[in-house]
Amino acid sequence: MPVVAPPNPASVAHGSVDPLRGSFAEFARPTGPDLLARTAPIVPWIMARREAHVWPYARAVTSAPGTTTHAEAETQSAIRYGLNFATQDYLSLASHPSVQEAAMEALRRYGVHSGGSAALQGRSDISRALETEIGETLNTEHVVLFSSGWGAAFGAVTALVRPDDHIVLDRLAHNSLQTGANAATRNITHIEHINVDALRRALAGIRAGDASNGILVVTEGLFSMDSDSPDLRAMQAVCHEYQATLLVDVAHDFGSLGPGGTGHIGREGMLGEIDLVMGAFSKTFASNGGFVATRHPGVRAYLEAYGGPHTFSNSMSPIQIATVREALRIVRSEEGDARRASLMSVVHTLRGALAEQGLTCLGDPSAVVPVLIGQTSLARVASAGVLERGLFANLVEFPAVGVRAARFRMQAMSDHTPQQAREAAALLADAVREARERLAPPGTAARQVAA
Ligand SMILES: Cc1ncc(COP(=O)(O)O)c(C=O)c1O
Repeated sequence: MPVVAPPNPASVAHGSVDPLRGSFAEFARPTGPDLLARTAPIVPWIMARREAHVWPYARAVTSAPGTTTHAEAETQSAIRYGLNFATQDYLSLASHPSVQEAAMEALRRYGVHSGGSAALQGRSDISRALETEIGETLNTEHVVLFSSGWGAAFGAVTALVRPDDHIVLDRLAHNSLQTGANAATRNITHIEHINVDALRRALAGIRAGDASNGILVVTEGLFSMDSDSPDLRAMQAVCHEYQATLLVDVAHDFGSLGPGGTGHIGREGMLGEIDLVMGAFSKTFASNGGFVATRHPGVRAYLEAYGGPHTFSNSMSPIQIATVREALRIVRSEEGDARRASLMSVVHTLRGALAEQGLTCLGDPSAVVPVLIGQTSLARVASAGVLERGLFANLVEFPAVGVRAARFRMQAMSDHTPQQAREAAALLADAVREARERLAPPGTAARQVAA
Protein backbone atom coordinates (compact mmCIF):
# COMPACT_ATOMS: atom_id res chain seq x y z
CA MET A 1 0.00 0.00 0.00
CA PRO A 2 1.51 3.37 -0.95
CA VAL A 3 2.31 5.60 1.98
CA VAL A 4 1.75 9.35 1.80
CA ALA A 5 3.87 11.67 3.89
CA PRO A 6 1.14 14.04 5.07
CA PRO A 7 1.87 17.74 5.53
CA ASN A 8 1.46 19.30 8.93
CA PRO A 9 -2.08 20.70 8.47
CA ALA A 10 -1.36 23.40 11.02
CA SER A 11 1.34 24.93 8.83
CA VAL A 12 0.03 24.54 5.26
CA ALA A 13 -1.09 27.79 3.65
CA HIS A 14 -2.89 28.01 0.31
CA GLY A 15 -2.53 31.57 -0.87
CA SER A 16 -4.39 33.70 1.61
CA VAL A 17 -6.83 30.96 2.60
CA ASP A 18 -6.36 29.36 5.99
CA PRO A 19 -7.55 25.73 5.78
CA LEU A 20 -8.32 25.69 9.49
CA ARG A 21 -10.75 28.59 9.29
CA GLY A 22 -14.05 29.20 7.51
CA SER A 23 -17.10 26.99 7.17
CA PHE A 24 -19.80 26.02 4.69
CA ALA A 25 -22.05 28.60 6.36
CA GLU A 26 -20.00 31.41 4.81
CA PHE A 27 -20.72 30.23 1.28
CA ALA A 28 -24.35 29.22 1.78
CA ARG A 29 -25.93 32.47 0.55
CA PRO A 30 -23.85 33.81 -2.32
CA THR A 31 -25.01 37.05 -3.89
CA GLY A 32 -24.78 38.60 -7.38
CA PRO A 33 -26.66 38.15 -10.65
CA ASP A 34 -24.54 35.33 -12.10
CA LEU A 35 -25.54 32.04 -10.47
CA LEU A 36 -22.52 30.29 -11.95
CA ALA A 37 -19.82 32.88 -11.26
CA ARG A 38 -20.81 33.35 -7.65
CA THR A 39 -20.00 29.72 -6.86
CA ALA A 40 -16.29 30.36 -7.50
CA PRO A 41 -15.18 31.61 -4.04
CA ILE A 42 -15.78 28.24 -2.40
CA VAL A 43 -13.17 26.50 -4.57
CA PRO A 44 -9.97 27.98 -3.04
CA TRP A 45 -11.29 27.20 0.42
CA ILE A 46 -11.90 23.55 -0.46
CA MET A 47 -8.56 23.34 -2.29
CA ALA A 48 -6.73 24.77 0.73
CA ARG A 49 -8.34 22.19 2.97
CA ARG A 50 -7.53 19.40 0.54
CA GLU A 51 -3.88 20.39 0.29
CA ALA A 52 -3.59 20.52 4.06
CA HIS A 53 -5.26 17.10 4.29
CA VAL A 54 -8.03 18.52 6.47
CA TRP A 55 -10.80 17.67 4.01
CA PRO A 56 -11.97 14.31 5.33
CA TYR A 57 -15.14 14.27 3.23
CA ALA A 58 -16.20 12.32 0.15
CA ARG A 59 -14.00 9.30 0.83
CA ALA A 60 -14.55 6.34 -1.47
CA VAL A 61 -14.49 2.79 -0.15
CA THR A 62 -12.77 0.22 -2.31
CA SER A 63 -14.02 -2.82 -0.40
CA ALA A 64 -17.21 -3.65 1.51
CA PRO A 65 -17.58 -1.25 4.45
CA GLY A 66 -17.52 -3.81 7.27
CA THR A 67 -15.89 -3.34 10.66
CA THR A 68 -12.71 -2.72 8.70
CA THR A 69 -12.54 -1.36 5.18
CA HIS A 70 -10.34 0.10 2.47
CA ALA A 71 -11.05 3.71 1.52
CA GLU A 72 -9.49 6.45 -0.49
CA ALA A 73 -9.60 10.08 0.65
CA GLU A 74 -10.60 12.52 -2.09
CA THR A 75 -7.24 14.26 -1.81
CA GLN A 76 -4.88 11.36 -1.28
CA SER A 77 -4.06 8.76 -3.89
CA ALA A 78 -3.26 6.22 -1.18
CA ILE A 79 -5.90 3.68 -0.33
CA ARG A 80 -5.95 3.25 3.38
CA TYR A 81 -7.05 0.18 5.28
CA GLY A 82 -8.41 0.64 8.74
CA LEU A 83 -10.97 0.26 11.46
CA ASN A 84 -14.30 1.45 10.23
CA PHE A 85 -16.46 3.48 12.61
CA ALA A 86 -17.91 5.60 9.81
CA THR A 87 -20.60 3.36 8.30
CA GLN A 88 -24.22 3.31 9.40
CA ASP A 89 -24.81 -0.44 9.34
CA TYR A 90 -25.69 -0.75 13.00
CA LEU A 91 -26.60 -4.45 13.12
CA SER A 92 -24.00 -5.43 10.49
CA LEU A 93 -26.78 -6.65 8.23
CA ALA A 94 -25.21 -5.41 4.98
CA SER A 95 -22.82 -8.36 5.10
CA HIS A 96 -25.36 -10.86 6.45
CA PRO A 97 -25.55 -13.92 4.14
CA SER A 98 -29.35 -14.16 4.17
CA VAL A 99 -29.74 -10.42 3.44
CA GLN A 100 -27.38 -10.71 0.50
CA GLU A 101 -29.16 -13.84 -0.71
CA ALA A 102 -32.55 -12.06 -0.52
CA ALA A 103 -31.13 -9.26 -2.68
CA MET A 104 -29.85 -11.78 -5.23
CA GLU A 105 -33.13 -13.69 -5.32
CA ALA A 106 -34.97 -10.39 -5.99
CA LEU A 107 -32.51 -9.58 -8.76
CA ARG A 108 -33.20 -12.96 -10.40
CA ARG A 109 -36.98 -12.63 -10.06
CA TYR A 110 -37.68 -8.93 -10.66
CA GLY A 111 -34.53 -7.61 -12.32
CA VAL A 112 -32.71 -4.46 -11.29
CA HIS A 113 -35.32 -1.78 -11.82
CA SER A 114 -38.65 -0.75 -10.31
CA GLY A 115 -39.40 1.10 -13.53
CA GLY A 116 -41.80 3.74 -12.27
CA SER A 117 -43.12 5.76 -9.37
CA ALA A 118 -45.24 4.00 -6.78
CA ALA A 119 -48.20 6.03 -8.01
CA LEU A 120 -48.04 4.22 -11.35
CA GLN A 121 -46.53 0.73 -11.69
CA GLY A 122 -43.36 1.07 -9.60
CA ARG A 123 -44.63 -1.14 -6.78
CA SER A 124 -44.28 -4.92 -6.58
CA ASP A 125 -45.88 -7.60 -4.48
CA ILE A 126 -42.82 -7.50 -2.22
CA SER A 127 -43.10 -3.74 -1.68
CA ARG A 128 -46.71 -4.26 -0.59
CA ALA A 129 -45.48 -7.00 1.76
CA LEU A 130 -42.86 -4.63 3.19
CA GLU A 131 -45.53 -1.99 3.88
CA THR A 132 -47.55 -4.58 5.82
CA GLU A 133 -44.52 -5.81 7.78
CA ILE A 134 -43.47 -2.31 8.84
CA GLY A 135 -47.06 -1.58 9.84
CA GLU A 136 -47.12 -4.75 11.99
CA THR A 137 -43.82 -3.83 13.64
CA LEU A 138 -44.85 -0.27 14.49
CA ASN A 139 -48.53 -1.05 15.08
CA THR A 140 -49.74 1.36 12.41
CA GLU A 141 -52.11 0.24 9.70
CA HIS A 142 -50.85 2.40 6.86
CA VAL A 143 -47.33 2.65 5.49
CA VAL A 144 -46.11 4.64 2.49
CA LEU A 145 -42.66 3.92 1.03
CA PHE A 146 -40.23 6.43 -0.42
CA SER A 147 -36.99 5.88 -2.31
CA SER A 148 -34.94 7.66 0.37
CA GLY A 149 -35.31 8.62 4.01
CA TRP A 150 -34.69 12.22 2.99
CA GLY A 151 -37.60 12.05 0.57
CA ALA A 152 -39.85 10.46 3.20
CA ALA A 153 -39.19 13.35 5.60
CA PHE A 154 -39.60 16.04 2.96
CA GLY A 155 -42.65 14.31 1.47
CA ALA A 156 -44.40 13.86 4.81
CA VAL A 157 -44.02 17.51 5.80
CA THR A 158 -44.91 19.01 2.43
CA ALA A 159 -47.86 16.69 1.78
CA LEU A 160 -49.59 17.61 5.02
CA VAL A 161 -48.67 21.22 5.81
CA ARG A 162 -50.10 24.21 3.92
CA PRO A 163 -48.76 27.80 3.96
CA ASP A 164 -51.18 28.97 6.68
CA ASP A 165 -50.28 26.07 8.97
CA HIS A 166 -47.45 26.07 11.53
CA ILE A 167 -44.44 23.84 12.11
CA VAL A 168 -42.62 23.55 15.41
CA LEU A 169 -39.22 21.90 15.00
CA ASP A 170 -36.62 20.73 17.45
CA ARG A 171 -33.73 23.02 16.54
CA LEU A 172 -31.54 19.97 15.82
CA ALA A 173 -34.02 18.24 13.50
CA HIS A 174 -32.45 16.73 10.38
CA ASN A 175 -31.93 18.72 7.18
CA SER A 176 -34.67 16.75 5.38
CA LEU A 177 -37.25 17.88 7.94
CA GLN A 178 -36.01 21.48 8.03
CA THR A 179 -36.00 21.71 4.24
CA GLY A 180 -39.50 20.24 4.09
CA ALA A 181 -40.68 22.75 6.68
CA ASN A 182 -39.20 25.68 4.74
CA ALA A 183 -40.88 24.46 1.56
CA ALA A 184 -44.27 24.09 3.27
CA THR A 185 -44.79 27.28 5.29
CA ARG A 186 -43.15 30.43 6.62
CA ASN A 187 -44.74 29.85 10.04
CA ILE A 188 -41.84 27.96 11.57
CA THR A 189 -40.83 27.95 15.22
CA HIS A 190 -37.58 26.31 16.36
CA ILE A 191 -37.60 25.12 19.94
CA GLU A 192 -34.88 24.18 22.37
CA HIS A 193 -33.62 20.67 21.82
CA ILE A 194 -35.82 17.90 23.37
CA ASN A 195 -37.46 20.39 25.73
CA VAL A 196 -41.13 19.61 26.45
CA ASP A 197 -41.69 22.89 28.33
CA ALA A 198 -40.40 24.82 25.33
CA LEU A 199 -42.82 22.83 23.16
CA ARG A 200 -45.74 23.67 25.42
CA ARG A 201 -44.84 27.38 25.38
CA ALA A 202 -44.53 27.38 21.59
CA LEU A 203 -47.88 25.63 21.11
CA ALA A 204 -49.65 27.88 23.62
CA GLY A 205 -48.26 30.94 21.82
CA ILE A 206 -49.38 29.71 18.39
CA ARG A 207 -52.84 28.67 19.55
CA ALA A 208 -53.35 32.02 21.32
CA GLY A 209 -53.26 33.67 17.90
CA ASP A 210 -54.50 30.95 15.56
CA ALA A 211 -57.15 28.41 16.42
CA SER A 212 -58.02 27.48 12.86
CA ASN A 213 -54.85 26.17 11.18
CA GLY A 214 -52.83 23.03 11.70
CA ILE A 215 -49.60 22.62 13.69
CA LEU A 216 -47.02 19.95 12.91
CA VAL A 217 -44.48 19.23 15.65
CA VAL A 218 -41.29 17.53 14.46
CA THR A 219 -38.75 15.59 16.48
CA GLU A 220 -36.53 12.49 16.23
CA GLY A 221 -36.41 9.21 18.14
CA LEU A 222 -32.62 9.40 18.37
CA PHE A 223 -30.74 12.54 17.36
CA SER A 224 -27.89 11.49 15.15
CA MET A 225 -25.33 14.15 16.11
CA ASP A 226 -26.01 14.06 19.84
CA SER A 227 -27.30 10.54 20.53
CA ASP A 228 -30.15 11.70 22.75
CA SER A 229 -33.92 11.20 22.68
CA PRO A 230 -37.01 13.18 23.66
CA ASP A 231 -39.78 12.22 26.08
CA LEU A 232 -42.23 11.13 23.41
CA ARG A 233 -45.10 10.32 25.75
CA ALA A 234 -44.99 13.84 27.17
CA MET A 235 -44.60 15.41 23.72
CA GLN A 236 -47.53 13.49 22.25
CA ALA A 237 -49.73 14.48 25.21
CA VAL A 238 -48.84 18.18 24.85
CA CYS A 239 -49.49 18.00 21.11
CA HIS A 240 -52.95 16.59 21.64
CA GLU A 241 -53.71 19.23 24.25
CA TYR A 242 -53.13 21.94 21.62
CA GLN A 243 -54.57 20.03 18.65
CA ALA A 244 -51.13 19.64 17.13
CA THR A 245 -49.77 16.61 15.23
CA LEU A 246 -46.50 14.91 16.22
CA LEU A 247 -44.08 13.52 13.64
CA VAL A 248 -41.15 11.43 14.89
CA ASP A 249 -38.19 10.61 12.62
CA VAL A 250 -36.87 7.18 13.67
CA ALA A 251 -34.07 6.93 11.08
CA HIS A 252 -31.39 5.99 13.61
CA ASP A 253 -33.24 4.13 16.36
CA PHE A 254 -35.70 1.93 14.42
CA GLY A 255 -34.14 -1.51 14.23
CA SER A 256 -31.13 -0.75 16.40
CA LEU A 257 -32.78 0.11 19.73
CA GLY A 258 -35.79 -0.89 21.79
CA PRO A 259 -37.72 -4.15 22.26
CA GLY A 260 -37.77 -6.12 19.01
CA GLY A 261 -35.97 -3.21 17.33
CA THR A 262 -39.00 -0.93 17.71
CA GLY A 263 -36.74 2.00 18.56
CA HIS A 264 -37.32 4.74 21.09
CA ILE A 265 -41.09 4.61 20.46
CA GLY A 266 -41.10 0.96 21.53
CA ARG A 267 -38.80 1.73 24.44
CA GLU A 268 -41.33 4.27 25.71
CA GLY A 269 -44.27 1.87 25.22
CA MET A 270 -45.77 4.21 22.60
CA LEU A 271 -46.18 1.86 19.62
CA GLY A 272 -49.30 2.82 17.70
CA GLU A 273 -49.72 6.02 19.72
CA ILE A 274 -47.52 8.48 17.79
CA ASP A 275 -49.41 10.46 15.13
CA LEU A 276 -46.81 10.08 12.36
CA VAL A 277 -43.68 7.94 12.26
CA MET A 278 -41.09 8.49 9.55
CA GLY A 279 -38.01 6.36 9.03
CA ALA A 280 -35.06 5.51 6.79
CA PHE A 281 -33.70 2.15 5.62
CA SER A 282 -30.19 3.54 5.20
CA LYS A 283 -28.94 2.78 8.70
CA THR A 284 -29.96 -0.54 10.25
CA PHE A 285 -31.72 -1.92 7.16
CA ALA A 286 -28.68 -2.04 4.89
CA SER A 287 -30.31 -0.31 1.95
CA ASN A 288 -31.81 2.91 0.61
CA GLY A 289 -35.37 4.02 1.11
CA GLY A 290 -37.72 5.38 3.71
CA PHE A 291 -41.30 5.27 4.95
CA VAL A 292 -44.05 7.10 6.74
CA ALA A 293 -46.33 5.08 9.03
CA THR A 294 -49.73 6.26 10.25
CA ARG A 295 -53.05 5.01 11.58
CA HIS A 296 -55.00 7.42 9.36
CA PRO A 297 -56.14 6.27 5.88
CA GLY A 298 -56.55 9.91 4.82
CA VAL A 299 -52.91 10.63 5.66
CA ARG A 300 -51.89 7.68 3.56
CA ALA A 301 -53.97 8.99 0.64
CA TYR A 302 -52.42 12.47 0.99
CA LEU A 303 -48.88 11.06 1.08
CA GLU A 304 -49.58 8.96 -1.98
CA ALA A 305 -51.12 11.85 -3.90
CA TYR A 306 -49.14 14.87 -2.67
CA GLY A 307 -45.95 13.39 -1.20
CA GLY A 308 -43.74 14.59 -4.07
CA PRO A 309 -40.81 12.19 -3.65
CA HIS A 310 -43.27 9.27 -3.42
CA THR A 311 -45.59 10.35 -6.20
CA PHE A 312 -43.18 11.77 -8.73
CA SER A 313 -39.98 9.79 -8.17
CA ASN A 314 -39.03 6.25 -9.16
CA SER A 315 -39.80 3.88 -6.29
CA MET A 316 -37.35 1.69 -4.35
CA SER A 317 -35.85 -1.06 -6.49
CA PRO A 318 -36.93 -4.68 -5.88
CA ILE A 319 -33.39 -5.42 -4.66
CA GLN A 320 -33.68 -2.69 -2.04
CA ILE A 321 -37.14 -3.88 -1.01
CA ALA A 322 -35.98 -7.49 -0.62
CA THR A 323 -32.91 -6.36 1.34
CA VAL A 324 -35.03 -4.33 3.76
CA ARG A 325 -37.58 -7.13 4.18
CA GLU A 326 -34.93 -9.65 5.15
CA ALA A 327 -33.21 -7.11 7.39
CA LEU A 328 -36.56 -6.42 9.09
CA ARG A 329 -37.16 -10.15 9.56
CA ILE A 330 -33.81 -10.40 11.37
CA VAL A 331 -34.43 -7.20 13.35
CA ARG A 332 -37.65 -8.72 14.75
CA SER A 333 -36.12 -12.15 15.49
CA GLU A 334 -34.06 -13.53 18.40
CA GLU A 335 -31.02 -12.98 16.22
CA GLY A 336 -31.97 -9.30 16.14
CA ASP A 337 -32.03 -9.23 19.96
CA ALA A 338 -28.58 -10.84 20.04
CA ARG A 339 -27.22 -8.36 17.51
CA ARG A 340 -28.62 -5.39 19.47
CA ALA A 341 -27.05 -6.78 22.65
CA SER A 342 -23.72 -7.14 20.90
CA LEU A 343 -23.99 -3.62 19.47
CA MET A 344 -24.65 -2.17 22.93
CA SER A 345 -21.72 -4.05 24.39
CA VAL A 346 -19.44 -2.53 21.72
CA VAL A 347 -20.93 0.90 22.41
CA HIS A 348 -20.31 0.64 26.17
CA THR A 349 -16.74 -0.53 25.58
CA LEU A 350 -16.12 2.30 23.11
CA ARG A 351 -17.59 5.00 25.34
CA GLY A 352 -15.68 3.64 28.34
CA ALA A 353 -12.37 3.54 26.44
CA LEU A 354 -12.88 7.06 25.06
CA ALA A 355 -13.60 8.36 28.56
CA GLU A 356 -10.46 6.65 29.89
CA GLN A 357 -8.53 8.51 27.20
CA GLY A 358 -9.93 11.80 28.53
CA LEU A 359 -12.37 12.33 25.67
CA THR A 360 -16.00 13.39 26.12
CA CYS A 361 -18.84 11.36 24.61
CA LEU A 362 -22.17 13.12 24.22
CA GLY A 363 -25.67 11.77 24.80
CA ASP A 364 -26.88 8.31 25.73
CA PRO A 365 -25.48 4.93 24.66
CA SER A 366 -26.61 4.09 21.11
CA ALA A 367 -24.94 3.06 17.85
CA VAL A 368 -24.04 6.73 17.39
CA VAL A 369 -21.11 7.76 19.59
CA PRO A 370 -20.45 11.51 19.26
CA VAL A 371 -17.00 12.47 20.57
CA LEU A 372 -16.85 16.18 21.37
CA ILE A 373 -13.69 17.98 20.29
CA GLY A 374 -14.94 21.58 20.42
CA GLN A 375 -12.67 23.87 18.44
CA THR A 376 -13.04 23.35 14.68
CA SER A 377 -9.35 23.84 13.86
CA LEU A 378 -8.37 21.19 16.39
CA ALA A 379 -10.96 18.77 15.01
CA ARG A 380 -9.77 19.37 11.43
CA VAL A 381 -6.13 18.71 12.27
CA ALA A 382 -7.17 15.64 14.27
CA SER A 383 -9.19 14.36 11.29
CA ALA A 384 -5.96 14.11 9.27
CA GLY A 385 -4.30 12.17 12.09
CA VAL A 386 -7.29 9.87 12.46
CA LEU A 387 -7.03 8.84 8.82
CA GLU A 388 -3.24 8.49 8.93
CA ARG A 389 -3.58 6.10 11.86
CA GLY A 390 -6.00 3.84 9.97
CA LEU A 391 -9.26 4.84 11.61
CA PHE A 392 -12.36 5.90 9.72
CA ALA A 393 -14.53 8.20 11.85
CA ASN A 394 -16.58 11.06 10.46
CA LEU A 395 -15.78 14.65 11.34
CA VAL A 396 -18.82 16.85 11.92
CA GLU A 397 -18.29 20.58 12.05
CA PHE A 398 -20.23 23.86 11.92
CA PRO A 399 -22.86 24.42 10.52
CA ALA A 400 -23.91 20.75 10.90
CA VAL A 401 -23.27 21.27 14.64
CA GLY A 402 -22.71 24.36 16.80
CA VAL A 403 -19.78 26.74 16.22
CA ARG A 404 -17.52 25.40 18.96
CA ALA A 405 -19.02 21.93 19.03
CA ALA A 406 -17.03 20.07 16.35
CA ARG A 407 -16.99 16.36 16.94
CA PHE A 408 -16.24 12.95 15.53
CA ARG A 409 -19.40 10.96 15.02
CA MET A 410 -18.39 7.36 15.48
CA GLN A 411 -20.91 4.73 14.41
CA ALA A 412 -20.69 1.30 15.95
CA MET A 413 -21.79 -2.01 14.43
CA SER A 414 -22.79 -5.24 16.14
CA ASP A 415 -19.88 -7.07 14.44
CA HIS A 416 -17.23 -4.76 15.93
CA THR A 417 -15.23 -6.52 18.62
CA PRO A 418 -14.53 -4.94 22.01
CA GLN A 419 -10.84 -4.99 21.03
CA GLN A 420 -11.62 -2.95 17.89
CA ALA A 421 -13.56 -0.47 20.03
CA ARG A 422 -10.61 -0.06 22.42
CA GLU A 423 -8.16 0.32 19.51
CA ALA A 424 -10.37 2.94 17.85
CA ALA A 425 -10.56 4.95 21.07
CA ALA A 426 -6.77 4.85 21.45
CA LEU A 427 -6.20 5.91 17.82
CA LEU A 428 -8.66 8.79 18.07
CA ALA A 429 -7.18 10.00 21.35
CA ASP A 430 -3.67 9.82 19.91
CA ALA A 431 -4.70 11.87 16.87
CA VAL A 432 -6.31 14.51 19.09
CA ARG A 433 -3.20 14.71 21.30
CA GLU A 434 -0.98 15.15 18.25
CA ALA A 435 -3.31 17.80 16.83
CA ARG A 436 -3.13 19.75 20.09
CA GLU A 437 0.65 19.69 19.94
CA ARG A 438 0.70 20.80 16.32
CA LEU A 439 -1.59 23.72 17.00
CA ALA A 440 0.04 24.88 20.20
CA PRO A 441 2.11 28.05 19.73
CA PRO A 442 5.76 27.41 20.63
CA GLY A 443 6.27 27.44 24.36
CA THR A 444 2.55 26.99 25.11
CA ALA A 445 1.13 23.94 26.82
CA ALA A 446 -0.80 22.08 24.09
CA ARG A 447 -3.78 21.44 26.34
CA GLN A 448 -4.50 25.15 26.83
CA VAL A 449 -4.82 25.73 23.12
CA ALA A 450 -7.40 23.01 22.73
CA ALA A 451 -9.69 24.33 25.44
C1 LIG B 1 -32.55 11.81 11.18
C2 LIG B 1 -32.43 11.53 9.72
N1 LIG B 1 -33.53 11.63 8.95
C3 LIG B 1 -33.49 11.38 7.63
C4 LIG B 1 -32.31 11.03 7.01
C5 LIG B 1 -32.26 10.78 5.53
O1 LIG B 1 -32.19 9.42 5.30
P1 LIG B 1 -31.55 8.81 3.97
O2 LIG B 1 -30.08 8.92 4.10
O3 LIG B 1 -32.02 7.41 4.01
O4 LIG B 1 -32.07 9.57 2.82
C6 LIG B 1 -31.16 10.89 7.78
C7 LIG B 1 -29.89 10.49 7.13
O5 LIG B 1 -28.84 11.02 7.32
C8 LIG B 1 -31.22 11.16 9.16
O6 LIG B 1 -30.11 11.09 9.91
